[in-house]
Amino acid sequence: MSGPVAITIDGLTVRYRAGAAPVVALQDLSCQIAGGTFIALVGPSGCGKSTLLRALGGLVAPTAGRIAIGGANPDDARAARLVSFVFQQPVLLPWCTARQNIELPLRLFGWSAPRRHAAAAQFLDLVGLARFADSYPSQLSGGMQQRVALARALVFEPAVLLLDEPFGALDEITRERLNVELLRIWSATQATVLFVTHSLAEAAFLADRVLFLAREPGRLVADVPITLPRPRTAALLEHDDFLHTVAGLRRQLNRHDPPPPQAGGRHG
Ligand SMILES: Nc1ncnc2c1ncn2[C@@H]1O[C@H](COP(=O)(O)OP(=O)(O)O)[C@@H](O)[C@H]1O
Ligand SMILES: [Mg+2]
Repeated sequence: MSGPVAITIDGLTVRYRAGAAPVVALQDLSCQIAGGTFIALVGPSGCGKSTLLRALGGLVAPTAGRIAIGGANPDDARAARLVSFVFQQPVLLPWCTARQNIELPLRLFGWSAPRRHAAAAQFLDLVGLARFADSYPSQLSGGMQQRVALARALVFEPAVLLLDEPFGALDEITRERLNVELLRIWSATQATVLFVTHSLAEAAFLADRVLFLAREPGRLVADVPITLPRPRTAALLEHDDFLHTVAGLRRQLNRHDPPPPQAGGRHG
């Protein structure tokens, strides 16, 4: 990879055909993302977060508009191995060890065995699993499996990392640890990251910018910079500035996605 890769999204619209009525998953979304930025995407379920990642990854074609990833369209960016995905479930091959799972993309790219082994060892180490190289997924906890998935996504040093609620299925403590680790790893790369989360605390902790999406149709409603200093470590989670930042994000969210009225409250 040579230098950070910027992303331009211009008038992106994605419509799905679902039965009689088409679903407008994203409508006219435009956004400029500087190379090396960490973006958090938040919004209610169904607002098009996954669709946006899929469009960036070349897994779904825009109905209208365009996406440029360092000047390339998503298909070319994917072919050039600029882009990598991590999903909520680690989707590891159960009959392959951690090392073999991490080597999988490199095998597909035709890397030689020594080069594959060296890269896998480096990234196993980076995610703290050097001792578990020969373990099978069933022998690893959920958090460890997700670390393997993260190592597999990072091993070919993609310029753009797309993470779709990657730690959403994990307990809060594991999740906090992985977030700290993710920032440490990210700071050592120049990757441009888009990270989907339902947690405003997670968004505030990780991101340079938080993009809020609303649903029906899926659209961008707010773009909030996070100015908390880096490097960010677990100590930040208790800091007043951090708590204020999360409260600000919550106000922003409630503006566009108000909570339901309280039971027993008066309406009129
Ligand atoms: N393959 C599909 N076919 C039809 N509709 C879809 C498909 N994928 C997503 N949708 C619809 O598009 C909208 C956005 O979905 P999605 O991008 O998954 O949102 P999110 O990730 O924010 O929950 C939703 O209404 C969803 O039901
Ligand atoms: Mg989703």
